[in-house]
Formats: sequence, structure tokens, C-alpha cells
Amino acid sequence: MRILGIETSCDDTCVSVIKDLDILANVVSSQTKVHQKWGGVYPTMARREHQKNLPIVFKKALDKANLLVKKKSLVREDKIKEILFREDILLKKTLNILGNYQKPDIDFIAVTYGPGLDPSLWSGINFAKAISAGWNIPIVPVNHIEAHLLISLFEIKNNRLKQKNVQFPAIGLIASGGHTQLVLIKDIGKYKTIGETRDDAAGECLDKIARILNIGYPGGPAIAKRAKLCKKNTITLPRPMINHKNYDFSFSGLKTAVLYSKEKENINCMAKETEQAVIDVLLKKTVLASKEYKAKNIILGGGVTANKELRRQFSKEFNNLLLPPKGAQTDNALMIAVAGLMSPKTKNYANIKSNPNLRI
Ligand code: KG4
Ligand code: ZN
Repeated sequence: MRILGIETSCDDTCVSVIKDLDILANVVSSQTKVHQKWGGVYPTMARREHQKNLPIVFKKALDKANLLVKKKSLVREDKIKEILFREDILLKKTLNILGNYQKPDIDFIAVTYGPGLDPSLWSGINFAKAISAGWNIPIVPVNHIEAHLLISLFEIKNNRLKQKNVQFPAIGLIASGGHTQLVLIKDIGKYKTIGETRDDAAGECLDKIARILNIGYPGGPAIAKRAKLCKKNTITLPRPMINHKNYDFSFSGLKTAVLYSKEKENINCMAKETEQAVIDVLLKKTVLASKEYKAKNIILGGGVTANKELRRQFSKEFNNLLLPPKGAQTDNALMIAVAGLMSPKTKNYANIKSNPNLRI
């Protein structure tokens, strides 16, 4: 079974190809440089970048997977124009691909349909639809949050995915730029959100604080880098909601505390304390959930789990921790293809829509 994965829910343009558990290609084109000067993602700009990048990333992934074969063919232009009538930049290049390359041997396209930024999601979905219509390949719509969790059920060795042992019930913690939530996982496909952030997501908080400290974007890696340089931390920041007996989070107060702190110029230690405050809250709530639901595994997902300190402290706490494999922590299309592989419910392209507020 060959699956093509497409992910464009935020600011990374990603395409992957897997053949069962073999990774044939996993290409990510980051828009960091475009969004850097704003310290955050601008949806209309992200959409334009996706449109520019998608055909390039797509061809690169197919080429890597040895599936890009030149061959002139007739395209039903009217149909493709109808699908891409709002994606002017994409249209020409997509027609070019469909007209000049042979239909690759792919069983279905897995594409993120939510949650995420609406204009970003639509670029990926419409591109997938055009490819689907042009080459007659079905689509499997994928939930981005579920994909972040499912990829943690695998390890990667020599470009091959290997499934880890997992037992249920499990507790899933998603910490990314857009989401922070705790999920009770009764089985693959059976999820219940037990708590989530009431304001900013953990990654969003790191991004905003990095902006206040003027140390770069994305904030997570910038803060982690600075934190390592702090010799002795004497700064204290709040741990919002850490002692509330529920599974909700709140991170916007942390950003405000940094903004009004008199010790802002001590950037390295401010970064360290920020990092630790976020880890403390995430860890404490996960421990609470793990005990109450008698979790047999703890499954982490999302870009913030790329944080080494977080991984170290969670690993110390839990001996049943499943982390995303290296390189698949932040947004990627490999996790989208894998989610498609685990739940291959195909749909006709005409019935697929973006769902920016999709829940797990
Ligand atoms: O999952 P992701 O790539 O995109 C969303 O679905 O939102 O997560 C991106 C978030 C950003 O907020 C970024 O600052 C954070 O993940 N991040 C990190 C690290 N790398 C990325 N946070 C902490 N430490 C890191 N090393
Ligand atoms: Zn994500």
C-alpha cells in the first residue's frame, strides 16, 4: 500500500510517501523565514507560501520515492480549474504536473483537513483534490491532532517505521503551537478530551515570550537554546492552574508575567524559568490524569515535545512514555500518511472540506 501524505495546517508545507511501513520520502519546507519578522504566523501569507511551495515539495517527494516519471498526458483542465479557482498560484503549476508526469503508483492521498488555519488547510486540501481528480486517486482526510499522537506509536530505524507496544487506556498529551490538551485514549480512534488550554497553547506561549525577549521565532527552540546558558536561575514565574484539580491549562498569564517582570534583561534565566514553568504544569497535570485513569501508557505529541528538557523530565517521571520519533515531533506529512494507514477510510474528493476547529 502506497500512501501520499500532505500537511499544510499551519506554516510548514509537507509531503511524504510511505509504502506500508517503509518511508520513501518525508519532505518539509518551513516558512520560518517568512514569518520570523512578525514573530508569528500570518494566515494569508502562509497560504500564499503553501501555494508556491506545494508543487515543489510534491515533486521532490515523488522524485525521492522514485515515482516521478515524465509523460505527456491530457488533463481535464476545466475540472482542475474548478477545484483551484481560488488558488491562482497553485493552478498553473498543478496543471503542469498533471500534464507532464505519469500517474504515480499511489493507493490514496492522506491530507490534513483540520484543525489549523483555514487558508493554510485549504491550500493542502485543494491541491490534494486537484491531484485526486486529475489522476483518479482517492483521499483520506486526517485529523492533525490524532496524527501527532499516532506517530508516537512508532519508532523509525533506517527509514522504516516499527510499531511500539502500546496498552490502553492511555493518556495523550498534545503540546503544540496551536493546541494543548490531555486526551483519554481508550483505543486507537477512541478519544475523549479531558482538559485543554483556556487561552494560549504551550507552544504559542513560548513563541510569544520569545518575541517579548526578542530572541527569535519559532520561540520553543530559541528559548531552549537560551535556557541552557543560564547558570543559576533566581527568577520565579507563576505556574498557572498547576494546583487546580482538573486537566485544564492556562498559559497567557505566563506571558504577561514575563512582560512585566523587572528581570527581563536576564534573558537566559528568563528563558530557563519559562521553559521550566511550562514543563512543570504539563507534567503535573499529566501525572494527575495518568493516576486517575490508570493509564498504561503516556503518549506525547506536538512540536513542544521536541524540547529536550521536557522529554528528559517526562522520561524520568514515566516508564511507560511513548514519544514521537526524532524528526517527527514538529509538523510533518509522515504522521499524516501514518494516520491514513491506520484508518484508511477513503472519500471522494468532492466531499472533503477544511475544518479549522476539528476536535479529536
Ligand atoms: O506541532 P507543531 O510543529 O505545529 C502545530 O501544530 O502547532 O508545533 C509548533 C510549536 C511552536 O510553538 C514551537 O515554538 C514549538 O512547537 N517547538 C518547541 C521546540 N521546537 C518547536 N518548543 C519547545 N522546544 C522545542 N525544541
Ligand atoms: Zn502540529
